Amino acid sequence: MSQEPIVVWHQHSVTRADREKLAGHRGCVVWFTGLSGSGKSTVASAVEALLNASGVRTYLLDGDNVRHGLNATPQTLAALHGEAYGARFGLGFAPEDRVENIRRIGEVAKLMADAGVVVLTAFVSPYRADRDAVRQALGGGLAAGGDFAEVFVDTPLEVCESRDPKGLYKKARAGQIKHFTGIDDPYEPPASPELVLAGGEESIESLAKRVVEMLCEAGVVRR
Ligand code: ADX
Repeated sequence: MSQEPIVVWHQHSVTRADREKLAGHRGCVVWFTGLSGSGKSTVASAVEALLNASGVRTYLLDGDNVRHGLNATPQTLAALHGEAYGARFGLGFAPEDRVENIRRIGEVAKLMADAGVVVLTAFVSPYRADRDAVRQALGGGLAAGGDFAEVFVDTPLEVCESRDPKGLYKKARAGQIKHFTGIDDPYEPPASPELVLAGGEESIESLAKRVVEMLCEAGVVRR
């Protein structure tokens, strides 16, 4: 016997179409994925600057920033609300923590796309199944009429490691950080992303322009 639902969806009077009309463009999610140090945040930031300058409403959800708040670490939450709370709601880098990190971000990004915003996300998001779940939640890729575009920032591990902006690869190699993506934790590249950016080869400006061009071609924003 199925249970009665205890939460029920409520339809509000102002619709997504109303919000998009006001913005002058549709909402969507541009999902950057790639290794730490691949350039996701930098390219996403350059894309946001280009879009913002042409009057597009944007928001950049960035892994390092979101992990300071919404998806704070167990330690941060323990300091605020105690050990049990931190252990239950805080997120680290164990496989199930990464799954939940991406699930929450996917939901936030979906809400923001529904608000009529062009959302840019920059998370390692190493597991294909998690990214595919977000794609599905957003109705599929832009070409299929959905709200999702996956941008694979394909920068070789050697390049990411030589950049090592936060010194984390060095620590991972020294065994001071366990389960570091690309070193002792897997990165599963997308099977059919909307766009692949050769992160180690082109300038940030030219990579950012490619992303904007993709959004123009998909009819998300006007040229
Ligand atoms: S994800 O795997 O859950 O998508 P997310 O993008 O939020 O990761 O955070 C990745 C950032 O956290 C990296 O850029 C790096 O600075 C830092 N980090 C710390 N520990 C790890 C780890 N074990 N693996 C990958 N990134 C880590």
